[in-house]
Amino acid sequence: MAHHIIMDVDTGIDDAMSIMFAVRHPDVEIHAISCVAGNGPVHQVADNTLKVLDLVNAPEIPVAAGARQPLIEPARPPGAVHGASGLGRLRLPHTSRTMESVHAVELIRRTLLTAEEPLTIVASAPLTNLALLLRTYPELSERIERILFMGGSASVGNATAVAEFNIWHDPEAAFIVFSSGVPLVMYGLDVFNRIRVDAARIAELTACADPVATAVGSLLGNEIVDQATGRALPYSMIGDAGTICALVAPELYSFETWPLQVDLAPGLGRGQTQVDRRRTVYRRDDTPWASASIALDADTDSVLELFFSTVLPQ
Ligand code: BDR
Ligand code: CA
Repeated sequence: MAHHIIMDVDTGIDDAMSIMFAVRHPDVEIHAISCVAGNGPVHQVADNTLKVLDLVNAPEIPVAAGARQPLIEPARPPGAVHGASGLGRLRLPHTSRTMESVHAVELIRRTLLTAEEPLTIVASAPLTNLALLLRTYPELSERIERILFMGGSASVGNATAVAEFNIWHDPEAAFIVFSSGVPLVMYGLDVFNRIRVDAARIAELTACADPVATAVGSLLGNEIVDQATGRALPYSMIGDAGTICALVAPELYSFETWPLQVDLAPGLGRGQTQVDRRRTVYRRDDTPWASASIALDADTDSVLELFFSTVLPQ
């Protein structure tokens, strides 16, 4: 089955692997890629995206830069996770690809309007671009088949104890997207954190002669350091790439549909996705809840097999 998608990214180590997977998967057609500030400033995100497309010899795919900062909060300095370049230790050559001269919101609009069928938007970044799109052109929600987003959690957070980075970065944007009426599929930390790659596999990749294999090895070789102990974790993760794996092979995941909201209040809970898994619900407020299909479990070995067999040359 062909999946016609727009990707919204903040490339980013794991967004890079997600793009590589999507380009190489025979059932995925990428109509456009929109970039947003998140893992790094938007100009760096856009540049990294073009370089990654070069690396996998992708056909011409329109790429545009979008929001420079969250809807109401100031732009944040890049975190340490993705390194100064946003791609960890991976160094990629200068790209001769060029970006579209329009804002990402306009690129998404044009792409939705010219596509023959409604498109799926796969977001692996803060939802700022999509919120701007849905507020500016609400009528376009009919042209979006669904929004599959990496973000949130039904359990623990990573940016804070309870909030996942993409949602925490711009909670108001998440609120707008959640309340848009567009069908939602959430790929949160409940599965994201479970798709782990061990050190032996990373060493194997890094030693390969093929440049894409070496690049994936280098991306995965970027250590994830536990700030509490200062120690690197003994594994790496394919991260955002698991989101596209869930698009092409949903049978490898368990999905459940639950009410979903995001906490906008200042304080420790800000940016937390609340997934209401009560069997009997008594609501004590009037907040309308969205409904989302949420990935809660995965056949992790099969997901890794799918990822590596797609991305690496046979
Ligand atoms: C998300 O945050 C970013 O650092 C990653 O690219 C991923 O999209 C995980 O919380
Ligand atoms: Ca990302």
